[in-house]
Amino acid sequence: MGADSEHWAKYYVVTVERPAWQTVRFAIERFRCEDEVAPGPAADGPTGPVATTPLPRFAVDLGCGAGRDARELLRAGWRVLAVDREPAAQTALEAAVEPDLRLRLQIHIEDLASVAIPACNLVNASLSLPFLAPRAFHPTWQRIVAALAPGGRFAAMLFGDLDESASDPSMTCLPLETIRASLAGFEIEHWSVEEDDRPTALGDPHHFHLVEFVARKVG
Ligand SMILES: C[S@@+](CC[C@H](N)C(=O)[O-])C[C@H]1O[C@@H](n2cnc3c(N)ncnc32)[C@H](O)[C@@H]1O
Repeated sequence: MGADSEHWAKYYVVTVERPAWQTVRFAIERFRCEDEVAPGPAADGPTGPVATTPLPRFAVDLGCGAGRDARELLRAGWRVLAVDREPAAQTALEAAVEPDLRLRLQIHIEDLASVAIPACNLVNASLSLPFLAPRAFHPTWQRIVAALAPGGRFAAMLFGDLDESASDPSMTCLPLETIRASLAGFEIEHWSVEEDDRPTALGDPHHFHLVEFVARKVG
């Protein structure tokens, strides 16, 4: 097991019982509201409100870790493909997932730099994409955009260029304007930026520049 794998294995122990991030909860709620009542004439049919999309909806969780977001999606009735490079993520997620939800979960141990991202309603990526170097980050971003049809959403937590990790060439920490420009063709529904000094999940001091967003593809 390499140093990275040991690091992430410890991270899963610490985070497995932590709640889902607000980005994925925001996205789930937006879809739930859309499912409640279909707009337009279809809603006036004799059988009442009509769902516009076949259910259950399908999410791809990139860099799922111990699955705090994947499990929230499953609890909300979604099908989920959870992807991570670390086999320990699969072990942690399989141990934590409620047995009755397991049937709607697939786990793939793959690198985000090369994983094929299937067509889906939501791509979720919490604190995972920054761990790709720029030469992998940007093509992966393009594959995420291509996986979403209009109406699909992209929820992510990234590091901005003021993050301490920005000096690490194996990572990608982008200026806020670049992130916003990369979301051309999306309506940004949620956007939040925080910059502060605080310990990481494993207790190491870190200067964070956290950027989170939920964006809906419009074209
Ligand atoms: C900070 S953790 C976040 C985990 C989870 N999304 C969460 O919020 O709890 C980052 C995760 O990304 C995964 N990861 C980092 N680089 C990766 C890569 N190139 N391919 C696949 N997974 C990767 C790590 O293994 C780790 O599980």
